[in-house]
Amino acid sequence: MRPDSADVELRGERVRLRRVRDDDIAELTAKVNAPEVARWWGSYTEQEMRAEVNDPGITACWTVEVDGQVGGLVEVTEDNEPDYRNVALDLFIAAPLHGRGLGADALRAILRHMFEQRGHHRATIDPAVENERAIRSYARVGFRPVGVLRRAERGPDGHWRDALLMDLLAEELR
Ligand SMILES: CC(C)(COP(=O)(O)OP(=O)(O)OC[C@H]1O[C@@H](n2cnc3c(N)ncnc32)[C@H](O)[C@@H]1OP(=O)(O)O)[C@@H](O)C(=O)NCCC(=O)NCCS
Repeated sequence: MRPDSADVELRGERVRLRRVRDDDIAELTAKVNAPEVARWWGSYTEQEMRAEVNDPGITACWTVEVDGQVGGLVEVTEDNEPDYRNVALDLFIAAPLHGRGLGADALRAILRHMFEQRGHHRATIDPAVENERAIRSYARVGFRPVGVLRRAERGPDGHWRDALLMDLLAEELR
C-alpha cells in the first residue's frame, strides 16, 4: 500500500491506528457498505476502496483497529503551505461499534500526533449537516461549528447536501 501512509502507529485509549494493509481492503469495503456508513460515505467496490486509500490527494490513511479487528478508517489531508497550515480529517467507524466513543478516541490520537509531532495548530472536518452523530462526536473532541458549506457533497441519493464546516485549534483538543 502507499509508502507515505501512516508510517507511525498511533494508540488511543481503545483504538490502534496503523498502516492500511492490502488484506484490510475486503474488510474496509464490507464495513463502508453497511447502510449506516454508506449513507455518509457512499458505496465502494474493493477496487474503489483500494483507490480511495491510495488517493494522492490524501496525505495519510490509517486503519482503525479495535480489539485487533479492522474497525474503521481515518484519512488525513495535511496542507503544509507555511502560511495556511491545516489538517483536514475524514473517518468512518464500523456500524456495530458506533456510539461507544471510538470515533472520538481515534480523532484524539490523530490530532495529538498532528499537533505534537507534525507541528500543526488547527484541524477541520466537514460532516453533512444531518449527520448528528458525527457532529456530536466531533464536538466532544473540541471541534466548533464554523458555518454551513452549501451543497458541498453529493449523497448516495444523487442530491447535493450541505456540510457543516467545523474547526479546532490545538489548545482546544479535549
Ligand atoms: C461519525 C462517526 C465516525 C462517529 O464515531 P462514533 O464512535 O460512532 O461516535 P462517538 O461514540 O465518538 O460519539 C457519538 C456521539 O453521538 C451521540 N449519538 C449516538 N447516536 C446518535 C444519533 N443517532 N444521533 C445523534 N447523536 C448520536 C453519542 O451519544 C455521542 O455523543 P455524546 O458522547 O455527547 O453522548 C461514526 O459514527 C461513523 O463512522 N458514522 C458513519 C460514517 C460517518 O458518518 N462518517 C463521518 C463522515 S464526516
